[in-house]
Amino acid sequence: MSRLVIVSNRVTVPEKGGAAPAGGLAVALRAALEERGGVWMGWSGKSSGVREPAPLDIKVHGNITYALTDLTKTDVEEYYHGFANRVLWPICHYRLDLAEYGRKEMAGYFRVNRFFAQRLAPLIEKDDIIWVHDYHLIPLASELRQMGLKNKIGFFLHIPWPPADVLFTMPVHEQIMRGLSQYDLVGFQTVHDLDNFGGGLVREGIGERLDDNKFSTYGRTFKGGFYSISIETKEFAEFARKAASNVMVRKARQSVEGRNLIIGVDRLDYSKGITQRIDAFERFITTNPAHQNKVTYLQITPKSRSEVPEYEQMQRTVAEQAGRVNGAIGTVDWVPIRYINRSVARPVLAGLYRLARIGLVTPLRDGMNLVAKEYVAAQDPDDPGVLVLSRFAGAARELTGALLVNPYDIEGTAHAIARGLTMSLEERKQRWEKMMDHLLKHDINRWCDDFLQDLARS
Ligand code: UDP
Ligand code: G6P
Repeated sequence: MSRLVIVSNRVTVPEKGGAAPAGGLAVALRAALEERGGVWMGWSGKSSGVREPAPLDIKVHGNITYALTDLTKTDVEEYYHGFANRVLWPICHYRLDLAEYGRKEMAGYFRVNRFFAQRLAPLIEKDDIIWVHDYHLIPLASELRQMGLKNKIGFFLHIPWPPADVLFTMPVHEQIMRGLSQYDLVGFQTVHDLDNFGGGLVREGIGERLDDNKFSTYGRTFKGGFYSISIETKEFAEFARKAASNVMVRKARQSVEGRNLIIGVDRLDYSKGITQRIDAFERFITTNPAHQNKVTYLQITPKSRSEVPEYEQMQRTVAEQAGRVNGAIGTVDWVPIRYINRSVARPVLAGLYRLARIGLVTPLRDGMNLVAKEYVAAQDPDDPGVLVLSRFAGAARELTGALLVNPYDIEGTAHAIARGLTMSLEERKQRWEKMMDHLLKHDINRWCDDFLQDLARS
């Protein structure tokens, strides 16, 4: 079997006392690689002022070899904060209004991709399969090909791919499309993203869509596909079952004092719809006074990308909003919203999900959303909770037993919360079983196998 070499910007090395990896990519790739073994190359998370890079930091944990590179401060500023997180992220999440273009940042993005290729190439052996992840590294294959590498190279995009009218507002869209064409297989989360990609290509006259999801453009033919990322369903369910004895979970249960728990877990990101969700919770309470003092909404929101102005500002907005709503609807013996601004380890999260009668997952746009899948996997089969899920999350295409909502519709989400809290046990079980059956079949290993098989055949 060929060796698998994964490349992504974010890498989390399992270190004792290290923070929980709050982010779907790091969580999923670790689970996938633990099963198979291989090399995982990416950014160390450190930046230095010097141009001359230190040697790669190589760490071996079990069957995974981590190869980490530092970047310079300018690289991080231009490539990561600048182009990846202030252009590609908002554009791919349909937020044209938040995209900030700058020539320096665009140049930095392509420069750092070349740098990654230069660092990666010496590690590569003839039969290695290279699998590149996410929007930070789209031009990587193109750089590797220019260096003469003939290996199979696949790409998977963890975030949505927007329709042509959105994508083509980006000044360098042409280089981005050209970058994708250099892979042997380009994978998206859902058929909708794949169709947006194919549709844009054809509509702008850049290329052709052939049979069997093949695309022909810039002198190359390559394959496209959709592969919905997932979780280690069985293991996660086991975490949840065992978590009842965890100190933090026990404290949470005691402090809820018999009230129904509603849980939200998201990185602090504008794509997650957190402010709309808090509005919906407030609306739910004000229109359903019988639930006053009978529910607690726990929102766990680790900080994310705080150097990017939109994210920094959001820290204040959400904290103020949660405070305002607590002030408006709380009582002397009831704090309706508990807002936690730190990351929580996944085994503990599993226990908290299981305590919660409602999992509230309402992104405005999301590639997949692993939290939705984790919430389902964590439930007690004899008394499962209800998932309230945004129709704009990739997961909505699979988790059809959820109460699907439009997160922009505050009334509608408030109504779904009320419906979830009063749903009969029979209906809860029926909805949950359907979703759990699906997740047991479509777990993280299936995702990985499906992609790698298609890449090997491509
Ligand atoms: N997560 C975590 N601790 C936290 C918050 C989130 O471990 O405090 C994990 C969560 O369990 C999930 C991932 O981070 O596995 C988030 O993935 P998702 O696809 O929902 O969103 P993303 O952050 O990738 O946009
Ligand atoms: C999303 C992206 C990942 C990213 C993660 C956390 O899941 O798809 O590529 O790693 O968010 O964001 P960060 O910027 O901290 O890596």
